[in-house]
Amino acid sequence: MSTVEINASKRYNVIIEKGALSKVGELAKEIIGQCRAVIITDDKVDALYSATLTASLEKSGFDVIKFVFENGEKSKNFDTYKNIIDFLAANRIGRKDTIFALGGGVVGDMAGFASATYLRGIRFIQLPTTLLAAVDSSVGGKTAIDLAYGKNLLGAFYQPELVVCDTNTLNTLDKNVFSDGCAEVIKYGAISDDVIFDLMKSPESLDIDLIIRRCVEAKRNVVVEDEFESGLRQILNFGHTFGHAVEKLSNYKIPHGSAVAIGMAIIMRASAPGEYADKLISLLEKYNLPTKTDFRADELFEAVLSDKKRYADKITLVLPIKEGECMLCNKSLSEAKEILSKGL
Ligand code: GLY
Repeated sequence: MSTVEINASKRYNVIIEKGALSKVGELAKEIIGQCRAVIITDDKVDALYSATLTASLEKSGFDVIKFVFENGEKSKNFDTYKNIIDFLAANRIGRKDTIFALGGGVVGDMAGFASATYLRGIRFIQLPTTLLAAVDSSVGGKTAIDLAYGKNLLGAFYQPELVVCDTNTLNTLDKNVFSDGCAEVIKYGAISDDVIFDLMKSPESLDIDLIIRRCVEAKRNVVVEDEFESGLRQILNFGHTFGHAVEKLSNYKIPHGSAVAIGMAIIMRASAPGEYADKLISLLEKYNLPTKTDFRADELFEAVLSDKKRYADKITLVLPIKEGECMLCNKSLSEAKEILSKGL
């Protein structure tokens, strides 16, 4: 078992362990005491893991109810959010009760945003079941839903009480969903910990618990410095500015990690061509991640303009310096468009 402590505005642990789902009841009880437990999950994860989680929670004395919605980014919207909030209210969930977000990034973001806003905030615990959620979205307190205008446009910074990552749950991921998470793992290699590139060298023999721990530690180091993204935290958006544009233009058919892979490849080709760009792009390709897009520069740039990372007439881009190090760069709209066109 690995434990990474996150000392943000709220202090909490990230526990990484095979089989940890069946211990969530005891782990949670130590932190939140006796209360009602609301599992929020999607239909795919529900069929696989709700029973184990429910049994663990009930064994520790929690009274458990469950809300299940349809899997996929398409559900990360107002309608699902409203249905969750209505469910909480109809079941008279109170301030002392706790939400358990069981699933990938969409579940974590939806359940986290509902937790942040229902009754002005109730406690929640993240239980990531995808690689992407384990290394990125379950840690650091970003919660959000998508609007028609773009991804994650309505949200809150709201830290969980605990994150428990049962790495056995990754065994049931579709190959492409696992690969999608690998894009975020490779991102941590690029922005902060180049050892991760070595750990990712051989897809057939990954030490996934160690990889997740190193990514969570890398994220912890950023989040404790800049929890509310006034500066440094934007480094975690490496590949995301153009990635979000790809994701949005594809109507979310290109999943987040794949879109970020394309975004990272665009930035690498444009601003660090040569050996390092080739290395990072071939690592992405090893995990069958896309590194090119058919969308045109002008349509991508139009989508970039509605992204959160735009401030007035400037866009903050994350540019590579060397393996394990990136920097934030404010670019004018025309400079950013030029970089995009060069990297396509
Ligand atoms: N996923 C980027 C962040 O948490 O800031």
